[in-house]
Amino acid sequence: MLADPCTLPIRSEAAPVPCVAPIVIRPVRPDDESRLAAFFRGLSPHSRQRRFHGGVNELPPGVIAQFVRRCGSDGLGLLAVVTCSGAEVVIGEAAYAIARPRTRNAEIAIAVADDVQGRGLGKRLLRSLMSHAAANDVTSMYGGVQPDNKAMLALARALGFTERRDAADARLRRVERCLPEPSALATLPEGAAAI
Ligand SMILES: CC(C)(COP(=O)(O)OP(=O)(O)OC[C@H]1O[C@@H](n2cnc3c(N)ncnc32)[C@H](O)[C@@H]1OP(=O)(O)O)[C@@H](O)C(=O)NCCC(=O)NCCS
Repeated sequence: MLADPCTLPIRSEAAPVPCVAPIVIRPVRPDDESRLAAFFRGLSPHSRQRRFHGGVNELPPGVIAQFVRRCGSDGLGLLAVVTCSGAEVVIGEAAYAIARPRTRNAEIAIAVADDVQGRGLGKRLLRSLMSHAAANDVTSMYGGVQPDNKAMLALARALGFTERRDAADARLRRVERCLPEPSALATLPEGAAAI
């Protein structure tokens, strides 16, 4: 049986000594820049390649700065963090960015630290992102996924996304789904396929 995802042993570049800590999911803040940079640096090349669809070693500071300043109207970033020896360590991130302001259609991206993949954190993060987005009048979400990225395709499927060919990029599959009205969110039980 998998460990409770709330108390996983964590290893990361910023916390080399394994520690057991509760996981908190919260919106990203401007002071998260260095924590987020450490998270992306700590991902395996394979996971970074999945996340950015290319061989990225280090993200330019401007990209991280933009990420941590998303405020809700144009998009939002969420972090999964644990506190190790008094310092917060990022172990996952999920974000949406409004792609079409008129229709409130948003593009999503997500990554979970390699050590804790496959234990339910991606699902918690994406579900949380969907709730925040629906409350912020986002009507639909989509993402481009490499066709052999079984984990992301399974995660999207588990949360009600459909999958099809990506017309904008023949190398990718496109996962997408509509979001419920914000008023419908409160009535959805935890884990419901609708959110
Ligand atoms: C994709 C990713 C975010 C998924 O997060 P995760 O924490 O590993 O996923 P979860 O443990 O929450 O699993 C979610 C679902 O996917 C399934 N899944 C997870 N890993 C899987 C794998 N390797 N193969 C098949 N299914 C898998 C789980 O069984 C679960 O489905 P279920 O609830 O129906 O059982 C994570 O693997 C990751 O960060 N990968 C690298 C970056 C990336 O690919 N980002 C996506 C860019 S579009």
